[in-house]
Amino acid sequence: MSVDRYAVAGNPVTHSRSPAIHALFAKQTDQAVDYGRLHCELDAFKPTVQAFAAAGAKGCNVTVPFKFEAFELGARRTERAELAQAANTLRFDADGGWLADNTDGVGLVRDITVNAGVPLKGARVLLLGAGGASAGVLGPLLAEGPAEVVLANRTVEKAEAIVQRHAAWAARHGVQLRASGLAQPGTAFDVFINGTAASLAGSGVPVGPEVLRPGTLALDMMYGPAAQPFLDWATAHGATGRDGLGMLVEQAAEAFALWRGVRPQTAPVLQALRAQLAAEYATPR
Ligand code: ATR
Repeated sequence: MSVDRYAVAGNPVTHSRSPAIHALFAKQTDQAVDYGRLHCELDAFKPTVQAFAAAGAKGCNVTVPFKFEAFELGARRTERAELAQAANTLRFDADGGWLADNTDGVGLVRDITVNAGVPLKGARVLLLGAGGASAGVLGPLLAEGPAEVVLANRTVEKAEAIVQRHAAWAARHGVQLRASGLAQPGTAFDVFINGTAASLAGSGVPVGPEVLRPGTLALDMMYGPAAQPFLDWATAHGATGRDGLGMLVEQAAEAFALWRGVRPQTAPVLQALRAQLAAEYATPR
């Protein structure tokens, strides 16, 4: 039986959980898939991925900092990739060139609505950050039909540019979408999503707790120790904290479905990954 090759392309990729996730998907769905890591030098994303495809690979996921370049490489692009202007998934189609997709947003939406069981329809949502992470998820978030989405960022001009790009999409889905700085983004949101790198920088949550109400779903796209200060902050203010592990598994499932035509069950994979992470971080280093 021939095995189809895929990989996660990025820099760094050493610590990526994607190979483990896709190995579990492949086993569960009985698909002959070999999913590895593709380290790309910062100035050599395109030739590295082209060589991977030329060697017979079927597709790749793309992570930091190459999602914008990956989008550019798509001969065809999905609507959600167009909105994000970034791609996290490439499918190397033999005819018609490569398909560029972005599964981050739908992964986040599924994690919120299915795994966490929190409806987005009619909700008031605060999305923090205006980098690639936030831009990548805004389109699918709006498509769920929340009442209001505030995109708040330290540099407000960046949030304004993204809001402008999504204005017609927001109107089509009946959502009030606006940009804001960090000083007064609004209060008592139903869902608060942190898509900034503030957790990584260790600089704490850059907005005040008034953005929360008791029971707000407060989700950081990070996971592991990087997400802990945010989760502690959320809990201390009566919100329900959630890390980005569910989003990670869900975006992977969407990519797997795009490549293989089979949708894997995510719940057992998320459970296995959580257990693995808990064991790793419990081990003194
Ligand atoms: P990515 O593509 O992973 O989202 P990025 O493009 O570097 O990364 O964007 C990082 C985001 O985190 C930006 O929204 C950034 O705010 P600015 O646009 O004002 O730079 C935000 N960010 C990073 N560190 C922050 C901090 N200490 N406080 C507030 N926002 C921060």
